[in-house]
Amino acid sequence: MSAASTITVDGKEIEMPVRSGTIGPDVVDISKLYAKTGAFTFDPGFTSTASCESKITYIDGDEGVLLYRGYPIEQLAEQGDYLETCYLMLFGELPTAAQKADFDYRVTRHTMVHDQMNRFFTGFRRDAHPMAVMVASVGALSAFYHDSTDITDETQRMIASMRMIAKMPTLAAMAYKYSIGQPFVYPKNDLDYTSNFLRMCYAVPCEEYVVNPVFAKALDKIFILHADHEQNASTSTVRLAGSSGANPFACIAAGIACLWGPAHGGANEAALKMLMEIGKPENVAKYVAKAKDKNDPFRLMGFGHRVYKNYDPRARIMQATTHQVLKELGKNDDPLLEVAVQLEQIALKDEYFIEKKLYPNIDFYSGITLKAMGFPTDMFTVLFAVARTVGWIAQWAEMIEDPMQKIGRPRQLYVGAPRRDYVAVDARG
Ligand code: SDX
Repeated sequence: MSAASTITVDGKEIEMPVRSGTIGPDVVDISKLYAKTGAFTFDPGFTSTASCESKITYIDGDEGVLLYRGYPIEQLAEQGDYLETCYLMLFGELPTAAQKADFDYRVTRHTMVHDQMNRFFTGFRRDAHPMAVMVASVGALSAFYHDSTDITDETQRMIASMRMIAKMPTLAAMAYKYSIGQPFVYPKNDLDYTSNFLRMCYAVPCEEYVVNPVFAKALDKIFILHADHEQNASTSTVRLAGSSGANPFACIAAGIACLWGPAHGGANEAALKMLMEIGKPENVAKYVAKAKDKNDPFRLMGFGHRVYKNYDPRARIMQATTHQVLKELGKNDDPLLEVAVQLEQIALKDEYFIEKKLYPNIDFYSGITLKAMGFPTDMFTVLFAVARTVGWIAQWAEMIEDPMQKIGRPRQLYVGAPRRDYVAVDARG
């Protein structure tokens, strides 16, 4: 693409630089547009807008490519583990064996939360949605860890990052235990990250809990798949919150709140509820017709993506993981999987989905796997938040360290009333 592009506004022609990244689309730098023309760009939903430079994650929506720091998601998911991915996200390189051992040790020793958090939880109703509990309790961490909220201090930023990665599983398990009326289970330092989380969710004081290695491996892979995804809605929320100088715990709480929406991270819970509503393969055609009906607000949850206009590479790995977990459970004939496979087959051959480039995304299969592993549907987005925390934190740190960083403050196209004078109440019509 040329080194510059020109635009004419009100008869004035101005030149704007075009910049190229390592790979992917070029950008037209419009940062001087308003100063030079008095006009804003207009891009609701940011469909054509790059909000920042980043070195963390690259997505090619047409080719179905996802790279974390240049490494393909397929290789990381198959050959690595989640804490290795966390190290890669935070530091930009895969760790040596010694670096990995040190990182695992440090994360493991931050997994406990301040014991007064236990009393914080008792303020919730038992039937509170665990995402509400997560938004509140993660935000409340700012009230406990004052020694890692000075964002101008690089050491404090790293401590806060380690604490977030380490404590999210503990808080998530506490939210689950609280919802089912069981006592909290403390983390154990001799377990790996994902096994520790499974034990905190499913162990009870009355007997020893043995982690199923197939479940631990599957969940660790699910965490890797969900770790980061470029400038998605919740990551952009974390960046925008962080741009004002808010502390990292508050920023992550904002990201959790945004992820909760059914168009974003809440889709895994919504997708499973949809599959359960469809119930059996013979009902699939009726729901596909509903999804295509412009007058029907129903959408196939777990289908479609702002960026992927081809198959979501994570969905392929997720589908294989689903089969592994169901095989382990002897549930290969799970009716929900049957409905999902039928739904995918019909949708991928249907002109509507082909024309709109709607493919299964990561949320389409994850719910079946998590349900088979014993998680209730309202915990699915909590697990997404646990996994995405490292992406949020890495993107937040990158934003803080970006020399171009300034507070995010978009403008608008005003279409409201022109200036008018106040009318006394007895003179109003
Ligand atoms: C995640 O951004 C990320 O990276 C997110 C994520 C991450 O890792 O962070 O990948 C995680 O959020 C995955 C997406 C999970 N959401 C869902 O599965 C919810 C169902 N999908 C949609 O609501 C939708 O596809 C979005 C929100 C994901 C994307 O929406 P866009 O890009 O804004 O596209 P759109 O809503 O404008 O839809 C384009 C067209 C529309 O038809 P027209 O108005 O052009 O006629 O496609 C239709 C939509 O009606 N459409 C669907 C559909 N999704 C879009 N029709 C039926 N079923 C669907 N699922």
